Amino acid sequence: MNILAVQYIRPMEQGWSLPHLFKCEDGQTYVVKFINNQSGSGILANELIAYRLGNLLGLPIAPYRIIQITRDLVDMFPVLKSLDIPAGLHLGSLYFEQGTTSFEEVNLALCKNLYHAAGMIVFDHWINNWDRHIAESNLLYLPDQRKILMIDHSDAFFGPDWDKEECMDDVNRMDIFWGPLYEMFVPYIDSPDPFGHYVSLVERVSEKAVIEAVKGLPRQWKISREDVTGLIDFLLCRRKLVRGALEEVRDNFPIWTQEDHD
Ligand SMILES: Nc1ncnc2c1ncn2[C@@H]1O[C@H](COP(=O)(O)OP(=O)(O)OP(=O)(O)O)[C@@H](O)[C@H]1O
Ligand SMILES: [Mg+2]
Repeated sequence: MNILAVQYIRPMEQGWSLPHLFKCEDGQTYVVKFINNQSGSGILANELIAYRLGNLLGLPIAPYRIIQITRDLVDMFPVLKSLDIPAGLHLGSLYFEQGTTSFEEVNLALCKNLYHAAGMIVFDHWINNWDRHIAESNLLYLPDQRKILMIDHSDAFFGPDWDKEECMDDVNRMDIFWGPLYEMFVPYIDSPDPFGHYVSLVERVSEKAVIEAVKGLPRQWKISREDVTGLIDFLLCRRKLVRGALEEVRDNFPIWTQEDHD
């Protein structure tokens, strides 16, 4: 369901896509990425689809909503006019004012939902999201709730410009991601088979659920039906690749028992 933006607040001053804050009709504030951001409307589709897929796995992910910005609102704010923001449907994530991406200041031992970290690694592999393991900026820590929360799936799948051909090229192979952000989780992921639960969830995601996750993209985002079909096939085929790929990531967790490796 779309939500109407009722008030412009300010630019976020962070992020390649130059998002801005808006107050919306539900009384909440959203970090809004515009259709005419420099990477194109594909990132809006990626964010929305990844949000829905993340929900399927029960992972903590900021709520994303399609945000309607009217011509009247754009006309009221010179900054929006100067950016040539089209009236219509953009995409916002619920703004967590206290959220921080500076993990060096965070004591992760106090975090209450780190058990989801293994699921995030599984999820990033499934959706081909290379942009979290290297950058801490795509995970928020909420100090008031003591929880981690995923944001920014703009570069998932094949980045903003994916198409059917690209999706079909990659249905049988999965890149392995490992980097500083995942490294940070290592001391806290210590059950014998932390990936197992999430890998099984991915494997059991139904075709119907994937179709639901990719449907209803606003026409204004100009994603063709054919490309959406390609993305559905890509996601369905990769369900069975995750287990093997995660075996390679496992080696980075020395505290897991050797027996479970067999
Ligand atoms: N929902 C949110 N609540 C609080 N802060 C947020 C939220 N969404 C984004 N931010 C902040 O804004 C920054 C930019 O957002 P995001 O990563 O989604 O944009 P981007 O343009 O894709 O960035 P990047 O430069 O990583 O490509 C984040 O790193 C984070 O600091
Ligand atoms: Mg980011």
